[in-house]
Amino acid sequence: MESIVVKGGRKLSGEVVIGGAKNSALPLIAATLLAENGTSDLDNIPNLRDINTIVRLLEGMGAEITRSDNKLKIMTSAVNDFQAPYELVKTMRASILVLGPLLARFGKARVSLPGGCAIGARPVNLHIKGLEQMGAEIEVEHGYIIGQAKRLQGADISFDMPTVTGTENLMMAAVLAEGITHLRNAAREPEIVDLAVFLRKMGAQIEGEGTHTIVISGVEKLEGTDYRVMPDRIEAGTFMVAAGISAGDIIIKNAPLAALGGVISKLQEIGISIEPLTDFDEDAILAGTPVRVRRESLELHSLDVKTMPYPGFPTDMQAQIMTLLTLAQGTSVISETVFENRFMHVFELQRMGADIEVEGRIAVVRGVDTLSGAQVMASDLRASAGLILAGLAADGETAMSRVYHLDRGYSGFEKKLEALGADIKRIST
Ligand code: UD1
Repeated sequence: MESIVVKGGRKLSGEVVIGGAKNSALPLIAATLLAENGTSDLDNIPNLRDINTIVRLLEGMGAEITRSDNKLKIMTSAVNDFQAPYELVKTMRASILVLGPLLARFGKARVSLPGGCAIGARPVNLHIKGLEQMGAEIEVEHGYIIGQAKRLQGADISFDMPTVTGTENLMMAAVLAEGITHLRNAAREPEIVDLAVFLRKMGAQIEGEGTHTIVISGVEKLEGTDYRVMPDRIEAGTFMVAAGISAGDIIIKNAPLAALGGVISKLQEIGISIEPLTDFDEDAILAGTPVRVRRESLELHSLDVKTMPYPGFPTDMQAQIMTLLTLAQGTSVISETVFENRFMHVFELQRMGADIEVEGRIAVVRGVDTLSGAQVMASDLRASAGLILAGLAADGETAMSRVYHLDRGYSGFEKKLEALGADIKRIST
């Protein structure tokens, strides 16, 4: 069993490079299924467990994939199996992203229904409903979504709520459909913009990505192309919190600042200085900018945070900012509006001396002077990052088990922190 062991008290300093965005890389890899010919060359692919999972998924379908450093070369012309088995989907819900591309290109798909997960029920009803509106016949049998279609038809689809992978799935379905599709109340996350830019490079016709309404005119076929994945805004935000909580002073070489708007203003209010080192374009949400991040004041200030779909404060940064606020002066209120059960880290932070009370989707955090190192257990991906951040600031040693959650979404996290001066290591017992 592996653990990450961190001894608190070191101020971080030096430079760190952020990897490619997991939540962009996954849909981009799924989108390569749409290419009837040619090779897709993807660059800046992070080295993560979730990436291994989706690569295995596509290989199982007959895709030819070669991997070197941060690059993937994917040929999907010989794909002849249209299944996503339970064994893979249960380890990564984003496997559902193959459903749209498979139905669009092959008219067939058999994809395991993702179950609930630690942070909430997370249904995929909106993915299914949208595909049905495009003419697919879908049945759910024996835990599998079984879909068939002749050629998908353009449709006017209005999401009941903005869903990130739902929007991506339907975008990928619509690019090969006959006619025009409108996706209304679409999610606006930067990763959706990254996917749209990639699909356009493959030959798709898409407008309006990054707004509430995406309009897609279906084309006959798409081809492989080359593309570089945007930097990971959540990894960048996590390192900003690491600099703040350790009273450090670091340079992030490629922070996607424009995509981090809501996070940056909150961190600044708490007392962390975030200073771009070059001019940056507020509209260039896929670009990375060098930025200096340091603790500005001795004291951290409390504040209220409400997670919301983009451009609101991301739920994927909630555990990290909560950890920071456990050490702020005064009381903070955190409302989690996206997932119903995303406070699992609270119980572990309490074991480290944090003063947090949870009532439904609200957490009240009263700042304490110090956290104390303890043995803790990661419950999900972002919770694991929150616990390591807590360990950076805590007295003594924190040992976090269930490291596989961290490895799903952070590449070499402890190595990057060690290079910034943290006393941290991974141990096997
Ligand atoms: C994506 C991200 C995840 C992030 C989340 C919210 C990826 C691979 N994952 O997950 O890191 O935490 O966005 O920013 O990009 N919902 C339904 N029915 C559906 C689909 C969603 O009710 O068919 C609900 C969900 O339960 C949730 C809300 O919509 O309450 C938003 O979820 P969604 O945006 O779909 O999250 P994911 O795409 O799974």
